[in-house]
Amino acid sequence: MKIVLIGFMGAGKSSIASVLSQKLGLEFVEMDDLTLQKSGRISINEIFAKDGESAFRQLEITAAKTLSDSKNIIISAGGGVVQYKPIMDLLKNNGRIIYLDTPFEVIEKRLAGDDTRPLFKNKENARKLYDTRKKMYEEYSDATVSTGNKSIEQVAEEIIKVVKL
Ligand code: S3P
Repeated sequence: MKIVLIGFMGAGKSSIASVLSQKLGLEFVEMDDLTLQKSGRISINEIFAKDGESAFRQLEITAAKTLSDSKNIIISAGGGVVQYKPIMDLLKNNGRIIYLDTPFEVIEKRLAGDDTRPLFKNKENARKLYDTRKKMYEEYSDATVSTGNKSIEQVAEEIIKVVKL
């Protein structure tokens, strides 16, 4: 089994992937960590600041290649993977893609004070990005699970039901 969680920054992909991995006994990989490892930089902020966004996306392609053939794994994908079809094709390979749909207002509260995400620094731009990407997440996913104010546990159980169908 291979489950790929996609969704906007702050949708809860990592926390939910971690709980899912325990419940299903599958390995959990944080794609951002793998991307960072491949960069030689100390943070995602540093990659964006020194190398730029397109360099970050190139690194994401390399990370997606590493993950493409993996099995028995839960992948928490970076929020921007849907902008690049080659990344989605690599991630999709024999996997189920689940979109975690979270209202922007919830995300805004969750990420208040977070300075680790370069594309969330300007809220107006983040909102525009959210609106543009929503359709892309829907288009690429095999199933959507809305998270809203549900607990991590609840969302994980819903995903399990979906993937066992
Ligand atoms: C990004 C989301 C981040 C990270 C990078 C770019 C995006 O991942 O990959 O800051 O383009 O939405 P998370 O969704 O895990 O925060």
